[in-house]
Amino acid sequence: MAVMTDSFDPRFGEAWTMAQCAGLLPMPGVWLTIARENETVSGFALARLVADEAELLLLAVKTAAQCRGIGRILLEHFEDDALARGAMRLHLEVREGNHALSLYERAGFGLVGRRRDYYNGQKGDRYDALTLAKSPGNLR
Ligand SMILES: CC(C)(COP(=O)(O)OP(=O)(O)OC[C@H]1O[C@@H](n2cnc3c(N)ncnc32)[C@H](O)[C@@H]1OP(=O)(O)O)[C@@H](O)C(=O)NCCC(=O)NCCS
Repeated sequence: MAVMTDSFDPRFGEAWTMAQCAGLLPMPGVWLTIARENETVSGFALARLVADEAELLLLAVKTAAQCRGIGRILLEHFEDDALARGAMRLHLEVREGNHALSLYERAGFGLVGRRRDYYNGQKGDRYDALTLAKSPGNLR
């Protein structure tokens, strides 16, 4: 939760609460990957497999550790773990305008949809979510 609070900009309503995480983590098909540097947690990826589709639910790296490749490594782990668990398709949702978009696009994810007003911002403003997916031909 320290990484969650530190990394997500509170303006956009993308971060999850402790209760949301605690509710999801015990569910079947859910896994959490933690990035550590010198025993300090610097980032995490939360993912879920349903049937043969894996979803990247959250990806975060604490501010002080960003732009050093940890996000990309966590994304690669997500893909490898998803394939090992039997995924045939990967997908995720990201706020339009989030700089993580370039990370996902470079990893081979493509735009497949848009959810209008998906995120509730701090001041009542709403932000669209873009749905990105990566299919068999593009998997690592
Ligand atoms: C998105 C996030 C996980 C990336 O983690 P990271 O460790 O900084 O990512 P990397 O160092 O692997 O960078 C990968 C690419 O992401 C993009 N990127 C990362 N930080 C960026 C920034 N501050 N501004 C613009 N682009 C950025 C760049 O395209 C970068 O490519 P580069 O190697 O050419 O610089 C991190 O910025 C973060 O935690 N953001 C807040 C939470 C969030 O919005 N998560 C995504 C939605 S769930």
